[in-house]
Amino acid sequence: MGLQIVLGVSGGVAAYKSAMLASSLVQQGASVQVVLTAAAENFIGAATFEALTAQPVVRDAFDAAYPLGPHIALADKADLFCVAPATANFLGKAANGIADDLLTTLFLSIAAPVLLAPAMNCDMWAKPSVQRNVKTLQEDGVHFVGPEAGWLSCRKQGLGRMSAPESICRRIAELASSLEA
Ligand SMILES: Cc1cc2nc3c(=O)[nH]c(=O)nc-3n(C[C@H](O)[C@H](O)[C@H](O)COP(=O)(O)O)c2cc1C
Repeated sequence: MGLQIVLGVSGGVAAYKSAMLASSLVQQGASVQVVLTAAAENFIGAATFEALTAQPVVRDAFDAAYPLGPHIALADKADLFCVAPATANFLGKAANGIADDLLTTLFLSIAAPVLLAPAMNCDMWAKPSVQRNVKTLQEDGVHFVGPEAGWLSCRKQGLGRMSAPESICRRIAELASSLEA
């Protein structure tokens, strides 16, 4: 694939699937830089992503390793920005230009195509405010994959399940080939 991908992971249960996503992308030849939100670290640890991607995870908007700020350094090198899972909170902030942590600041500073893989409880996904935010982001040119219907960790069946890592990889490959065209 040969792409530089920034993979944002926000705080939902589906974060465990993002490790498989990161590994698949690496196996396909991508360089993957993971950014975790503080909430995401309740679900999965940085060590997993660091081992899978062979790159330090970045989570601090004021990381001293980046004098210009990691939102500038990571945005500059990204061919594609994927957030999986994308929480309702992330969608709300991204749709409204709020940048109060590294992931949301990166969303604003990145010029590369953005692919979001939402994941949440079906009642959250159906909420008018969430749907408004999705529509705003789509109108702004942001790409989406999923969510899909099925078993949710809240013990319900419904729409809100994050797309499988293979589906997200496929969408990334499609976007990558449209970049090359
Ligand atoms: C057990 C648990 C599971 C959660 N799962 C989700 C989820 O799947 N999707 C979601 O949008 N929020 C979920 N949340 C809520 C988010 O973690 C919360 O809104 C958080 O502020 C998101 O922060 P972030 O967007 O900065 O990662 C969950 C919270 C808990 C405690």
